[in-house]
Parts: sequence; C-alpha cells; structure tokens
Amino acid sequence: MPEAKNISSSVAASPNTRRPLRIALFGFGTVGSSVARILVDSKPEGLELTHIYNRNVARKKADWIPASVTWTEDAEALLTSPEIDVIVELVGGLDPAGVWVERALAAGKSVVSANKKLIALKGVELENLAVSTGGHLKFGAAVAGGIPVIPGLEQGLSGDRIRSILGILNGTCNFILSKMQTGGEYATVLAEAQAKGYAEADPTEDVGGFDARSKLAILMRLAMRVEVDPEGIARQPITAVSAVDFSYARDLGCTIRQVARAEQKDGAVAASVGPVLVAAQSPLAWSRGTENMVILNGQYGGNVVFSGHGAGGHPTAVAVVSDLLALAYDSRRVRVPSKPAAVDAEFESAHYIRFTVKDRPGIVAEITGALAKEKINIRAIVQKEGFAESALPFVVTVEPCKASALDRALAAIRSQDYLIEPPLNLQILE
Ligand SMILES: NC(=O)c1ccc[n+]([C@@H]2O[C@H](COP(=O)([O-])OP(=O)(O)OC[C@H]3O[C@@H](n4cnc5c(N)ncnc54)[C@H](OP(=O)(O)O)[C@@H]3O)[C@@H](O)[C@H]2O)c1
Repeated sequence: MPEAKNISSSVAASPNTRRPLRIALFGFGTVGSSVARILVDSKPEGLELTHIYNRNVARKKADWIPASVTWTEDAEALLTSPEIDVIVELVGGLDPAGVWVERALAAGKSVVSANKKLIALKGVELENLAVSTGGHLKFGAAVAGGIPVIPGLEQGLSGDRIRSILGILNGTCNFILSKMQTGGEYATVLAEAQAKGYAEADPTEDVGGFDARSKLAILMRLAMRVEVDPEGIARQPITAVSAVDFSYARDLGCTIRQVARAEQKDGAVAASVGPVLVAAQSPLAWSRGTENMVILNGQYGGNVVFSGHGAGGHPTAVAVVSDLLALAYDSRRVRVPSKPAAVDAEFESAHYIRFTVKDRPGIVAEITGALAKEKINIRAIVQKEGFAESALPFVVTVEPCKASALDRALAAIRSQDYLIEPPLNLQILE
C-alpha cells in the first residue's frame, strides 16, 4: 500500500497519536533553507524533517538544524526509502528535479514542489501519476510564492467559472517597472535589481516573460480548466520599455506593468505576457517592488484579488509548509478536470504604439494610412517636445482592435526607412 495513504489514514484516525509526516528536503537554497527554518523553529504539528539532500552538502550544513536530521548527497536512497513520506522538491529546473519528482510519485510518495517550470510543462502527467500510485502532488508555491492563489483556486473558487486572469506574476519585472515609473532607465534599474538580489546575473527568464508564462499556464489550468502549452503563450520582453514610455503613459493617466493575461471567450482561449499600460488608479498599478498580484474574474462571483509577496525564501516557504500541513491533515483538494486547448493572443484591446523616427514630412500620414487599411481607429497622436529630429519618439493610441489586425498594420510600417527602431506596441488595459 502506498506510503502517503498510510500516513493520511493515520492522521485522520487520531490527531494526537498520529505518526508525523516524514519529510526529505531536496535543495537547501533560498526556499529550501527557509522551509527548514520554519519546520525547525515553529515545529508544525504532524511534520518531521528527517533528511536534507543537496549536492556538495558539506558546505550547506547549518548548526541550527537538529542533529536528528540526516544531511545527504544520495538522492537515490531517499527516493526509495520507506522511511520517507514526502519529498519537498526545491531544486528547480526540469532535470534532474523532474526525474526525482516522477520517481518519488511512482514510488507512492507525495511531493511538494515550487517548480513552476516543471508543473507548467508536466503538471497534468505528474498529477495523473500521483493519483495512480496513491501519492499527492502539491505545488501551491509554484505561482506567486507566498500568495495563496493556487489553494484559493482549488478550494475557494472552484465553484465559479473563471473567465479571465490578470496577473503580476514576476517580482523582478515588477521591481524594475515600478522603479522606472519613478525615473530611471531600464539598464540602471536592472543593475540595482541585480545588486539587491532581485534579478539573476542573466535576467532573461524574468524580463523575457518566460517565468511569468509558465505561471500563467498553471493558473489557466486551475482557473479556466484548459491545458495550454506554455511555449504557445505570446510573450514580449520588458527590455524595450524606456523612460520615455513612462512619461507618455503618465500623460495618458497610466503606468506600465508586466501583465500575464488570459481570457476565455466563446470557446477561444487567448493569453499573453508582456509590458502593458494599466490605469494609474487600477489595482495592478498599486503593486510596487517585488509584489505580485492576481485578479480573477468569475462568471458568478465577480472579481477576486490576491496580492502580497510573490517571491523570497520565507514567503515561498510558507506556501510549501502549508502544502505539507494540508497533506498531513489529509485535506483533500478539488481536482477540477481540464482539457488540452489551443491558445492565441487575439485580445480585443486598445493599444499604445511608440514610434521612434528620423523626422520627415508625411510620416504620420503613412502610419494612419496603414492603420486605416486594417480599419483601426486612432484615439490620439501625442508628441512631446524636446527630442532631436534624428530620433523623435511619438505615440499613437488606437481604439480597441484585434491584435492580429494591428500586427498586420505594423508589419506594413516596419520596413519604412524613417523608423530608427521597431515600433513598441503595448496593450492598454481598460
Ligand atoms: N526564490 C524564490 O523566491 C522562489 C519563489 C517561488 C518559487 N521558487 C522556486 O523554488 C525552487 C527553488 O528556488 P530557490 O530560489 O530556492 O533556488 P536556489 O536558491 O538556487 O536553491 C536551489 C538549491 O538546489 C540545489 N541544487 C541545484 N541543482 C542541483 C542538483 N542538480 N543536484 C543537487 N542539488 C542541486 C542548489 O545547490 P547549489 O547551492 O549547489 O547550487 C541549491 O541549494 C525553484 O523551482 C524556484 O523556481 C523560488
């Protein structure tokens, strides 16, 4: 009989006499060491940390970890040990972490993981494996760190039909963009984020939108019940946003955030991740620094907003320990069925388009002509003073239109010799 079932039934039988859930921690990094800290300091009832696995483990050993905990470099022994009930995977990446998760579930153990990349790509497969072997897979920390959006979807919101998701899901991008809002160019602010430990030396995963789209794919499965390929979600890096865009956005009553967005309408599923203009008074604009925010719109319950610390060792560890407690207390999650779906980026949205041009007569006429050909209505043309004619930035905003129509119009303009750089095309959330 699989281990996890034994434990669940002993927990359910008698809270005072149950055997604690025996936990092996895989990865003693930022989140792993915070999970250990909570388990050691607050000693949650029903949980017992028995093993810590890491490569080159000697340099990881900490004197605050009780002597009863075994430090090891032998992952294999833990995956097959009948002494361990739950593997907490906090190594990250697909390989070898994914293989370990699969092997642990196949052995009937339960797994708690914060690994968004793995869950976005293989969550369904791994959950099915867990069901078939009697184990459980929990990943409450994989999206928005310490904010309980996943348990919120699985429990409190499973009775609704979620129609749309708006999320600030990447703390690094939110730090950079909310800092640029107060002045500063991208490169300077990125360097500050790196110095503070908020951004990796290679920030591509975050600023390129890869991290947020994995998280969005996980949310879409739980909220909209659709399984989409995360790599099929359109993404736009925040790197092309500059100080001048914040200046124009302010004039339009907006600011800029990296927004992960998904919508289900008439059977079609649209999703995208990228910098977006949001109204200065909207909740999305309130989130500053590394905060995360998720707004879910339900057909019956209306809007629900989650916000808080989306990353960091301790907040993320809270989500991991909460998953462990849910396992220890046999709290059953609602497993809503989902099915594979195609995804496009065909939102109907107003847009902000910044052109940077070598000025000459006739440019605006050519741009408006290309937009008119696609039946796109212009809302405003804004040009600030004080820029050189050799690199003049100006902005055209357009009324809500299909993303594909605007893409066609911009494709026709893109080859024009007056453009100094490709136009920056951002959705405006209204
Ligand atoms: N940090 C956050 O705020 C946050 C928030 C939400 C979710 N997460 C997720 O949580 C997971 C862990 O993130 P983290 O920030 O704690 O990462 P981290 O600080 O880099 O910790 C990873 C740990 O795993 C160890 N490790 C890596 N590859 C290994 C391998 N092949 N064999 C053995 N040990 C290995 C590392 O050891 P070395 O020291 O030798 O590299 C390190 O101790 C990731 O899936 C991440 O996406 C993190």
